[in-house]
Parts: sequence; structure tokens; C-alpha cells
Amino acid sequence: MMDSVRLLVTTIPGLEDVTVAEASEKLSLKSFEVKPGQVAGRVILEVSEEEASKVFRLRSIEHVIRLLKIFPVEASLKGLDIIYRELYGLEVELGSTFRITCERVGSHDYTSIDVQRVAGQALVDRYGTKVNLKNPETIVRVDVAREWCFVGVQLTRQPLHIRYLRVFQHPSALNPVIAYGMLRLSGLKSGETLLDAFCGGGTIIIEAAQAWENLEALGIDISPKNIEGAWKNAESAGVKDKVNFMVADACRLEKFLPEGWKADREVSNLPFGIRSGRLKALPKIYRGFLSSVKSFLSRSAMLCLLTARRNILESSALEEGYEVAEARKIAYGGLESWIIRLKPP
Ligand SMILES: C[S@@+](CC[C@H](N)C(=O)[O-])C[C@H]1O[C@@H](n2cnc3c(N)ncnc32)[C@H](O)[C@@H]1O
Repeated sequence: MMDSVRLLVTTIPGLEDVTVAEASEKLSLKSFEVKPGQVAGRVILEVSEEEASKVFRLRSIEHVIRLLKIFPVEASLKGLDIIYRELYGLEVELGSTFRITCERVGSHDYTSIDVQRVAGQALVDRYGTKVNLKNPETIVRVDVAREWCFVGVQLTRQPLHIRYLRVFQHPSALNPVIAYGMLRLSGLKSGETLLDAFCGGGTIIIEAAQAWENLEALGIDISPKNIEGAWKNAESAGVKDKVNFMVADACRLEKFLPEGWKADREVSNLPFGIRSGRLKALPKIYRGFLSSVKSFLSRSAMLCLLTARRNILESSALEEGYEVAEARKIAYGGLESWIIRLKPP
């Protein structure tokens, strides 16, 4: 019988179900657990040893950790003794050097630095292996999530959202993991037409072109500098021939798009009015866009929009006759943000 391996993967809090859906589609999952220890942004995937390498190809995750041990831990200082004991008893290949990394969620009488120190000491005492903080051969994760401790070897060095060199760095560039999640939530299928009317440096359009086949993918931004940057990013990502970008105003699409052109999905990271200022202008932009885009949507179209201004977007959508199909909260860059799916009138 094939041995199975349990991998703890990290994602954007609020997108755990997207990870499960993607993993179920691309791997033969033996089991999964969403938010182990009630920690958002984590999923445990159990797969065969043979399938484990495919996990790194998932587009909805950031890090992959091979789980070795899960044990209960106390919130008092006694918790540190438990961590020392469990780590001392851990069977693990450390190679020539190692480092402990800890993420701690919940309230404890100790910090993540304390956990790193105690866990590191336990492994040094047991194996005599040297610690190398900068460039270790092995990264051991010792995450404390409320009353549980998750120990494993982190298999990723860089977060998996780094897919290509962003030659142009938009000041509000979206994490491609979120872009992928939004595209999935929009219901995008190969062969469809996709519009991002606020494309900035092109993240959503580029993500779609990398992950879906035969799309017609059009990105629009009011700033010529951003459109120039989006083309450069698309070239860097190897999808320049599969995408199109255009300088245009999302609130006056009829001036720029040919009559009869229809998008099946509209997926955008809207201006929030924080980083680029101008909160007051948002209702006008949101309403103007929702009004203008209506005649460029196919009959079964879905919009999937990211904003930190849920109220402004929902009231604009209702005034324009859209139906709010879903509003889900995600944690993004320290802000409470919302992915909102709208069905056109
Ligand atoms: C949050 S940013 C998008 C960032 C993008 N997702 C990325 O990863 O680079 C919003 C973008 O909307 C653009 N924008 C603002 N008002 C617009 C309008 N009326 N029409 C088109 N684009 C507009 C801004 O120039 C900005 O690039």
C-alpha cells in the first residue's frame, strides 16, 4: 500500500475552500482538514507520497509544510516545557543546519521567539545540529495555534505566489493567490472572455492566462503607465501573446469597447480609496463602472470584485439592479477586504 503524507498548506484567510476545491480537482486527495486548530488560512491535505510533488503546483497556496507531529500545548509557561519535550522526541532529518520558524495564534504566556528558542534548543540537545538562521538546510516549523502545536518541515523557501518577475511593480499590486481565488470564484472556464476593467499591473489577467486555456483576456486601466507596466509583466510571465491591455476609463467603456463585445467574467481589484487616496470619489467610480459595464456582459456573466468598501459597492450594485450573489471576507494586507460576486440585471 502506498504511504500517505500530510501536508499543511497556507493560503489567504477566507480562501480555504478554494484551496480544497483546487486540490480536489488536481490531486487524488485522501482526506483534508480546513482550518486545523481553528486557524484561518491553513488546510491539511493528505495525499500519497507519489502525489506530494503536485501540491507545489497548486495556485491557491503560499507555503507547504510536511506535518510531523500535532500535540496539545498549554497557554501557561508549562507550554514551553511541553514543546521542549515533544521536539526532543521528534524524528526528523535536519541535514547540516536548521532553523526554527514559529507562527503563534491565540493568547499564551510566551512569545513566538520563546517557542523558537526552546524548540531549537531541544533539537540541538537531541541531534547536535548547528542552527543557521540565514540559510539553513532545513526549516522546522513549530506553529502554536491556540491549544495546539503543529510541527513540520517547511518545504517551500519562497511563497508560491511568486510566479514570475514583476518587472513593473504597481503600488497596489494584488497577490496572485487572491487573483486565482477570485478567478475561480467567478466561475471562469477555458475559452471564455474575461475583463478586468481596473487591471493596474495586470495581475488578474496574467494569472488567468497562465492558469486557463484559450481565453480572450482584456485588461483596462485609466493610467497609460499602468498599461505599459501590465504589458511588461505579461511578457515577463510568458503570456504576452495571450492577453490584451488597453488604456480606457472603466466608467465610460462604451467609448472604448466595440459594440456587441461581451465578457463572460469581470474580475477586478477595485480602487479602495486608501492607497491611491480619494475615498470621496469611490461611489461615483463604482456606480459609473457598474452602469457602463452592463451592456458588455454576456447573459450568464458573473462579476467578482475585491474591495475594502463593501457598503459602497453593495449599495452601488443594488442601485444598478445587480444581485449580490456572495460577499466573503478575506484577510489581505492588514485590511478587512471583501470579495463580492455580482449577477448582472
Ligand atoms: C487596486 S488597483 C489594481 C491593481 C491590480 N490588480 C494589480 O495587481 O496591479 C486599481 C486600479 O484602478 C485604476 N483605475 C482607477 N479609476 C479607474 C477608472 N475610472 N477606469 C479604469 N481604471 C481605473 C487605477 O489606475 C489602479 O491601477
